[in-house]
Amino acid sequence: MGKKVLIVGSGGREHALAWKLARSSDVARVYVAPGNAGTPQWNVPIQANDISGLVRFAKEEEIDLTVVGPEEPLSLGIVDSFTEQGLRVFGPTKAAAQLESSKAFAKMIMDEAKVPTASWEVFEEAALAKEYVRKIGVPCVLKADGLAAGKGVIVAMDLDTALDAVDEIFDGAFGDAGKKLIIEEYLEGQEVSLLCFCDGKTAYPMTPVQDHKRALDNDQGLNTGGMGTYSPPPVWTTEVEDLVMKEIVDPTLRIMREKGIPFTGVLFVGLMLTNTGPKVLEYNARFGDPETQVIMIRLESDLFSILWACTERKLDTVAVEWSNEKAVCVVMAAPGYPASYKKGIPINVPSLAQNEVVFHAGTTVQNDRLVSSGGRVLGVTAMAPDLVEARQKAYEIVKRISFPEAHFRTDIGLKGL
Ligand code: AMP
Ligand code: GLY
Repeated sequence: MGKKVLIVGSGGREHALAWKLARSSDVARVYVAPGNAGTPQWNVPIQANDISGLVRFAKEEEIDLTVVGPEEPLSLGIVDSFTEQGLRVFGPTKAAAQLESSKAFAKMIMDEAKVPTASWEVFEEAALAKEYVRKIGVPCVLKADGLAAGKGVIVAMDLDTALDAVDEIFDGAFGDAGKKLIIEEYLEGQEVSLLCFCDGKTAYPMTPVQDHKRALDNDQGLNTGGMGTYSPPPVWTTEVEDLVMKEIVDPTLRIMREKGIPFTGVLFVGLMLTNTGPKVLEYNARFGDPETQVIMIRLESDLFSILWACTERKLDTVAVEWSNEKAVCVVMAAPGYPASYKKGIPINVPSLAQNEVVFHAGTTVQNDRLVSSGGRVLGVTAMAPDLVEARQKAYEIVKRISFPEAHFRTDIGLKGL
């Protein structure tokens, strides 16, 4: 019998997961909680952090598999709650999700697994942190320890910025996430996101992706959750992949297993390809956004079978195939993002051809009109035989979308040319 799948979350990532899962011949019904205006036929009005509400719904509807998108419910223990109730869920436990929810925990695991990463120290006091900044000098990188939606990181190129960032983080600019502060060595190189399907034992790398974290063209402006992606980046080779799997992913999963906290779900490794080799910038314990948009359009295999196999600890029995075509996702954001931004802007999305999808993120329907309701609003995604064409297609759709004052980068994918 066809399966019922519940996706938790409301972003572009969740729209992309729902879009792909709905195409699976094993899936009879998709639900998204709470979803957005791009997923109306699937939406269930339960918030992503309402774990008891989600458990109740999954039991009542006899959901066969739940897939968790965002980090917050994972760090609150949604997987533990579902498992205790005998419900099948794809994602890491609360303990395993600490790879993302605590940067100090992640660094400790990296040390034990001897994973190459930036040198670092953790501080709970501004005075000691400042002393350390003066000692190591700039550039350096300051990170709030906890979850801050990709925004709790300051790359300081001068001393004043670094010292101000110490005060900012300890003064609560990132709330509880900033109770501890990590200061680390600045790494130079190209960034690549490598996401891996994990069943606790086996890890399969997905196709590599390059994200664009800064708000403005040429990597200027503030850090964001991600302004656009393309896949695959040409800096990635099979040699790099083999090295990353052998020196980073496999040892990390082995240490987690040895500690009694096996990792199931998506291990997202944020990498810097430096001239002394790949180094870990961060771990995330979930699918990336907007990485997932380009990954799903390029994934040829059935996503449901892969996720199901992970929950059965049988990932090594499925094949994961990728399209040879290239994909680009351009994020259209609200004016002002990532600082305070405008909401309620009317949007119109034109009809699209094959291999073109506009994934919704911060959208809703108001008085029968599609309007913006968040910072990152749309993920305009296109796939084509080469990157030049994929970029062209994506930007042509961007031009045809009516979204007054939308903010987007014009250089997504240029690094790959
Ligand atoms: P994170 O949330 O830790 O990935 O940091 C957000 C962004 O800050 C990364 O995607 C990088 O662009 C940048 N970043 C983080 N750590 C470093 C580092 N050690 N050196 C240089 N850039 C960094
Ligand atoms: N795009 C980066 C992230 O999902 O964290």
